[in-house]
Amino acid sequence: MTEEQNVIQWVYASKNEQELQERYDEWAKTYESDLDRDFGWYGPLWAVEAGARYIPKDARILDAGAGTGLVGKLLTEAGYAEIVAMDLSEGMLAEARKKNVYSAYHQMTMGEPLDFPTDSFGAVVTVGVLTVGHAPAHSLDELVRVTRPGGHVIFTLRPDLYEEGGFKEKHAELESAGKWKLAEVGDPTQILPKGEPDVYHQVWVFEVTG
Ligand SMILES: C[S@@+](CC[C@H](N)C(=O)[O-])C[C@H]1O[C@@H](n2cnc3c(N)ncnc32)[C@H](O)[C@@H]1O
Repeated sequence: MTEEQNVIQWVYASKNEQELQERYDEWAKTYESDLDRDFGWYGPLWAVEAGARYIPKDARILDAGAGTGLVGKLLTEAGYAEIVAMDLSEGMLAEARKKNVYSAYHQMTMGEPLDFPTDSFGAVVTVGVLTVGHAPAHSLDELVRVTRPGGHVIFTLRPDLYEEGGFKEKHAELESAGKWKLAEVGDPTQILPKGEPDVYHQVWVFEVTG
């Protein structure tokens, strides 16, 4: 990290997937305290609040890019009992394990084929992962494949990336293929208000239809 960079900019400046993984491995132990102290991080709370409007309590849920388990912890507090963690970084997954809220842990990469059967989850939640240098728009193909029809895919996304990152195109493609339909999209809101007030995100909820 350079003196001018904060830890988020340092992670975002990763040159490739290997470096991204190494930087998250290194950040894992202080991820939550850094976010709490310097940034504020509302992604998990918003996504779980939106998800709870759609996901039945007995659903098996995939937390894709689970990180240290903030989403899993909130889902558990909301009454969900079967949550599976998946992440690129073993270091982040090691922190997630300490929360004791997941039924399984998998090191996998969004953007590549996922080693889960088709229709194996009632919902997928992915927070802070479909973003610059992390997971690309085409990751959504696999998230939709592993979600059973009638289930939901819930994610946070920067409004500027919706167009520039290929998400608008992917949204239309999956819709015209009859694979999903929009259930709701939230207003753009500051997701890191203390440290990066210019960064806005929306929570998107899609119902998988085929
Ligand atoms: C900003 S953190 C968000 C973690 C957690 N969802 C939260 O809200 O606190 C991004 C997480 O995504 C993981 N990640 C980044 N790119 C990924 C990819 N292509 N596939 C799977 N996980 C990825 C990182 O290792 C990190 O744990």
